[in-house]
Amino acid sequence: MIERAILIALLAMSAAGVRAADAGDPAAGKALFERTCQNCHSVEIGVNKVGPSLWNVVGRQPAVVPDFVYSDGMKANKSAWTMSALDAYLADPRGDVHGVKMFFKGLPAQKDRADVIAFLQTLR
Ligand code: HEC
Repeated sequence: MIERAILIALLAMSAAGVRAADAGDPAAGKALFERTCQNCHSVEIGVNKVGPSLWNVVGRQPAVVPDFVYSDGMKANKSAWTMSALDAYLADPRGDVHGVKMFFKGLPAQKDRADVIAFLQTLR
């Protein structure tokens, strides 16, 4: 009986793992990034365009890329770029408190945001 309970728990965990992986598709996110973000953002270290380099952005503090002049709103933002912070920002960059300088209407589709965040996670 105990073995059986463990087996069921393991099956439940692997099903959850599959769902988590389904949350964002980095390949789709890369294509979306190239279409939508790349005009303003490079993924290379130290290369700033209209927006700062997004190399290694997931998990780091906002407004820390050297030689990029951020808005005061972004400089005042002290919450790290977690997946949920990125999701809120990308849903509505100009409505989100941090987003005063990014002239981008945002990604209304949850799947697009999950895909692009999955791609950003590969940049390290
Ligand atoms: C029209 C240009 C433009 C587009 C398009 C754009 N951004 Fe930005 N982005 C900016 C600017 C400018 C900033 C700096 C914002 C500030 O200082 O308030 C920024 C900031 C950011 C930041 C915070 C970076 C940091 O160093 O704290 C992230 C993350 C980000 N953008 C992601 C994206 C993603 C992902 C896309 C595509 C879905 C995108 N941006 C599209 C111009 C753009």
